[in-house]
Amino acid sequence: MTGCSDHDIEKGRLLFAGPIRFDRGVAALDGLPPPAPVEIAFAGRSNVGKSSLINALTGRRDLARASNTPGRTRELNYFMLAGDRLAMVDMPGYGYAKAEKRLVERWQKLVRDYLRGRVNLRRVFVLIDARHGVKPVDEDTLSLLDESAVAYQAVLTKADKISAAAREAALASTRERLRKHPAAYPDIALTSAESGLGIPELRAEIAQLL
Ligand code: GTP
Ligand code: MG
Repeated sequence: MTGCSDHDIEKGRLLFAGPIRFDRGVAALDGLPPPAPVEIAFAGRSNVGKSSLINALTGRRDLARASNTPGRTRELNYFMLAGDRLAMVDMPGYGYAKAEKRLVERWQKLVRDYLRGRVNLRRVFVLIDARHGVKPVDEDTLSLLDESAVAYQAVLTKADKISAAAREAALASTRERLRKHPAAYPDIALTSAESGLGIPELRAEIAQLL
C-alpha cells in the first residue's frame, strides 16, 4: 500500500493477531452465511497461492489448506475475524483443467455467481503469479468484476521466486493491464507468503476496510 503509516501497519497487525475462526465451507450459494459487515475474498488461478496468502496474513500455517496439487480448495471457505465483523473468503481457483470437467464447471459457476451477486463483498483480491502476469483467464475474472461493479485489487504472489528487477517489471506490466479495468484499485500489492514480503501492508489495507 502506498503511503502506509506505522499506525496503519499496527492496526493491521492487531486485526490479524486477534481471534480467527473457520466458519464454514460453502459448496452452493444457498449455503452462504448471513452477510458480515465487511466481506473480502481471495480469487485467482488455481495454485496461485490464495490459501497460502491467507495463512501468511493470519500467521497460522494451516488455517487454510494449501497444496501443491492444483484444485485443492473446492468450496468458498469462510474465515471470521474481528468478532465476526470481517469475513475472509478463500475461493476455489479457476483455470484448472485437469480435474473432472463436471466438477470444475460446478466450482467455476459457484465462483462466478458468488462474485457477481454477493452484496456485502467489499473488495476482491485478485491474485496474479508475479512470474506469469495477467493471463487470459484472469482477464475473464477482471471483466466479470468490472461488469458487476465489485471493487478489486491485484495482488502479485510468489515474489520470492523472482529478482528485484523482475518484480518491478511484473508490477509495471500488471499496472498497464489494469488501466483498462474501471473497477480495479490502482495500487498493486507485491507479496510472498514464503518470505512475508508485503504481508504487513496487506493486513493494513484490509484493516482500513473495517
Ligand atoms: P487452489 O486452492 O488449488 O486454487 O490453489 P491456491 O491458490 O490456494 O494455492 P496454494 O496456496 O495451495 O499454493 C499453491 C502452491 O504454491 C503451494 O505449493 C505453495 O506452497 C506455493 N506457494 C504459495 N505461495 C507461495 C509463495 O509466496 N512463495 C513460494 N515460493 N511458494 C508459494
Ligand atoms: Mg487454495
